[in-house]
Amino acid sequence: MVGSRLFALVAGTAPLVCALPANTPIDIALEHWNKRQSSAPVDRAQAVVDTFKLSWEGYYRYAFPNDELKPVTNGFGNSRNGWGASAVDALSTALVMGEKDIVNQIISYVPQINWSQTDISVSLFETTIRYLGGLLSGYDLLSGPLSNLATNKSDVAALLTQSINLANNLSYAFETPSGVPWNGLTFSNRGNDGDNNGLATVGTLILEWVRLADLSGNATYATLVEKAESYLLNPSPASSEPFPGLLGMNINTTTGQFQDAVGGWIGGADSFYEYLIKMWIYDPARYSTLKDRWIIAADSSIQYLASHPSSRPDITFLAAYDGRTLDLTSQHLACFDGGNFILGGQVLARQDYIDFGLALVNGCHETYTATATRIGPEIFSWDTTKLPASQAAFYNASGFYITNPSYALRPEVIESYYYAFRATGDSKYQDWAWDAFVAINATTRVGSGYSSIRNVNVAGGGGFTDFQESFWFAEVLKYSYLIQSGDAEWQVGGGGRDKWVFNTEAHPVKVAAG
Ligand SMILES: *[C@@H]1O[C@H](CO)[C@@H](O)[C@H](O)[C@H]1NC(C)=O
Ligand SMILES: *[C@@H]1O[C@H](CO)[C@@H](O)[C@H](O)[C@H]1NC(C)=O
Ligand SMILES: *[C@@H]1O[C@H](CO)[C@@H](O)[C@H](O)[C@H]1NC(C)=O
Ligand SMILES: *[C@@H]1O[C@H](CO)[C@@H](O)[C@H](O)[C@H]1NC(C)=O
Ligand SMILES: *[C@@H]1O[C@H](CO)[C@@H](O)[C@H](O)[C@H]1NC(C)=O
Ligand SMILES: *[C@@H]1O[C@H](CO)[C@@H](O)[C@H](O)[C@H]1NC(C)=O
Ligand SMILES: *[C@@H]1O[C@H](CO)[C@@H](O)[C@H](O)[C@H]1NC(C)=O
Repeated sequence: MVGSRLFALVAGTAPLVCALPANTPIDIALEHWNKRQSSAPVDRAQAVVDTFKLSWEGYYRYAFPNDELKPVTNGFGNSRNGWGASAVDALSTALVMGEKDIVNQIISYVPQINWSQTDISVSLFETTIRYLGGLLSGYDLLSGPLSNLATNKSDVAALLTQSINLANNLSYAFETPSGVPWNGLTFSNRGNDGDNNGLATVGTLILEWVRLADLSGNATYATLVEKAESYLLNPSPASSEPFPGLLGMNINTTTGQFQDAVGGWIGGADSFYEYLIKMWIYDPARYSTLKDRWIIAADSSIQYLASHPSSRPDITFLAAYDGRTLDLTSQHLACFDGGNFILGGQVLARQDYIDFGLALVNGCHETYTATATRIGPEIFSWDTTKLPASQAAFYNASGFYITNPSYALRPEVIESYYYAFRATGDSKYQDWAWDAFVAINATTRVGSGYSSIRNVNVAGGGGFTDFQESFWFAEVLKYSYLIQSGDAEWQVGGGGRDKWVFNTEAHPVKVAAG
């Protein structure tokens, strides 16, 4: 109800039902409405579970075991090699929600996946974060605190065997002269996509492959990714590190040399920085060097990349860069940055990182509240030298303008609200996550599920692309749920050492023993 009401308000097509003066500005109207309608976290958590079940039913009916649902046409896509990406990505969310039937539908399917069977190129990175991360998280949860949810113990064991099978299919990727892997793999002829790889695609493997090494007892999985990571920890040439700890984005897999000095906490670089601190949470004994590099990158980001729009000096964004020249642009994808600073601040007991992270969270919140749909855009800028006249008023009010208005069911803003709430206990962040969830539900819900949309700044979202990304299940719905729900051992920041760490696809992985 709140969802459709919010939609109608923004669209300006329906009168307010609550008593407000006719000319009440929309912000005040919404605030008033939200106050009247504010629901208890328990009801909100249940609303997210209901959305998860509805999404799963649509996928299961029209798309399973293909990779993703096309909700407008009730069709399916196989953008992730046809191994059932949405099913594997949904597993850890079904688990933390306690949805036993869905859990068992997924785990009884996993043994049937044939990793050798695919017609299209395999991305080492995407396969690692979605499939390997999803299976290992399922295994950790079902062989640990949620073992009561599996009806067939052999299916639980198969999650680990299928992880091993998958890694064995992928592992030839590391057979390059340097050990920095190829990312694009053609399984049918052990082919590859050439000798250029990226910072994020190389630097976002280590958590999943090390976890697999620890669970399987085969240390080779760890050796492979640690070798690759070593090139990112000691980047060469020196010019590829324009600010201490902040790197370029393209790496030659033949030489292990960086090719540029372009970067930021943006897509293509992002989760390399994210995993530096997460690996230390995973195992402080083995990965303190990564923590040290995270601190250097975090300090440089605060010193050199923090940027305040001229029209809204109260807002903090992180700029991107080319060498030491800043590019005053950011992205929805980059909005994980606030959450990652907060996480680092919590585990290192550094209030300055938490405070900086909260400022970044606030900036990303502004990208949501400024638009017609109350969903933030894919890419935005605050570079006034390129400000289009058509967006000058928007920029003056909001502190950014939109350079790509789409929304692909991305989680990063809600993800950062989650870390902000877990660190501060401030219910404001639960409210922000609920507002985002309600807005996303109101605008992206269509047909048998939820679809990416074309334009967050027109009422109704400017049209559907008819594509429901698998990370809708893994990330958006999980963080929307966890922020409204009570303590559990997989929740972050529960005091003391975290027992679980979330991979970049939001799959909780149990930290190393000891
Ligand atoms: C989600 O959208 C549907 C359809 O518009 C609506 O019935 C439902 O109440 C909404 N849920 C929330 C939590 O806003
Ligand atoms: C690939 O995975 C399949 C299981 O899906 C397994 O039978 C096969 O042995 C694996 N291939 C390699 C090279 O390990
Ligand atoms: C898996 O796929 C490969 C490649 O298409 C095929 O050769 C193999 O027989 C399949 N394995 C099973 C168990 O179906
Ligand atoms: C349990 O799962 C295994 C595969 O992991 C399957 O072979 C077996 O038939 C299942 N048992 C039941 C009772 O469904
Ligand atoms: C360990 O993993 C590597 C990499 O996939 C594989 O080549 C090797 O056969 C595995 N070792 C054992 C003992 O299974
Ligand atoms: C990578 O380095 C090798 C060896 O120097 C070179 O031949 C190749 O052209 C480089 N690849 C790219 C994409 O620059
Ligand atoms: C935006 O703000 C600038 C600087 O205050 C002002 O010159 C300009 O007229 C404003 N533009 C619009 C469209 O409000």
